[in-house]
Amino acid sequence: MERWTLPKENQQLEACETFEQVCTALIDGKLVAVPTETVYGLAADATNGEACARIYEAKGRPSFNPLISHVESLEAAEKHGVFCDAARMLAEAFWPGPLTIVVPKAASCTVSDLATAGLDSVALRVPDAPVMQKLAERIGRPLAAPSANLSGKISGTTADDVIADLERSLAFIIDNGPTTIGVESTIVSFLGPRPTLLRPGGLEREKIEALLGQSLATAGTDDSAPRAPGMLTSHYAPSSGVRLNAVEVKEGETLITLGDTYTAGQENARSIINLSESGCLREAAANLFTALRKADAGESSMIAVVPVPVEGLGEAINDRLARAAAPRG
Ligand code: TXA
Ligand code: MG
Repeated sequence: MERWTLPKENQQLEACETFEQVCTALIDGKLVAVPTETVYGLAADATNGEACARIYEAKGRPSFNPLISHVESLEAAEKHGVFCDAARMLAEAFWPGPLTIVVPKAASCTVSDLATAGLDSVALRVPDAPVMQKLAERIGRPLAAPSANLSGKISGTTADDVIADLERSLAFIIDNGPTTIGVESTIVSFLGPRPTLLRPGGLEREKIEALLGQSLATAGTDDSAPRAPGMLTSHYAPSSGVRLNAVEVKEGETLITLGDTYTAGQENARSIINLSESGCLREAAANLFTALRKADAGESSMIAVVPVPVEGLGEAINDRLARAAAPRG
């Protein structure tokens, strides 16, 4: 595996020799870890079934779980998916950004059946990550990229996290420092009668609803809202136990807290990790997976997490925490 650290200033990536080598690796069906604004992605040529099979293999991911295809523009996305007016409006407003749109496959779609898990729909995203955009554009193919971590484990938000999980499977890792958003993209489906939130994520539900002028159905809560395949309940699982909405700390627990609230018994905590000293949910989302990894690496076998407000990015934070705390199947 080769590590390519992106230059901070001059982002003329196409001029770098390594850029071409990464393109060649992708065209050869190899796996490359690519940073996005949400989390690091484990990327492969989405049109190459064998390459996508390598993603599932590397992650140990159940193969019924479809992957997101990353493209450089809405125009490129429309080659693969059929966008209704509302879907196009969202794409125009929020791409590039932490939003994935699920639409029916277009006749010209070249995304492999393995990446769509055999569905007649496709999940598309233009990430706010020049390197991913430029790679997709240069090879002229979408890049399938789930979060770069072992299946069921915490998503990687730094190159070192990714290397710890996946080094043996990668041809390259592109290092652009810690990701800025820190939780995966929000997924909205346009397959049903109403736009449906399949996964809360880095783009707040409120912003989407304001633009659409209607509320989003929530997956799994009513019949008009299909569930997202692969949204396994237990996910992001640290090896320590996770206790949510903790209002007091028990002897020896690690406490994950938010803002300057005092939690009863916090002096008994083995250690305290603050997601955001100022209580900012955006900062908390960016720090979430690193905090879980750090808490998990500590000595205590239980992680207590204070209640996190459910508005804005708090919805995605609560979703990921609930999965981290869910009983392991
Ligand atoms: O932020 C992100 O979205 C990251 C970065 C790397 O871009 N990627 C990511 O991808 O989280 P992934 O593969 O872990 O997310 C896949 C999820 C599936 O579990 C499923 O819920 C949804 O996307 N999905 C994909 N294709 C779908 C489809 N055709 N219909 C419904 N849901 C789909
Ligand atoms: Mg994931």
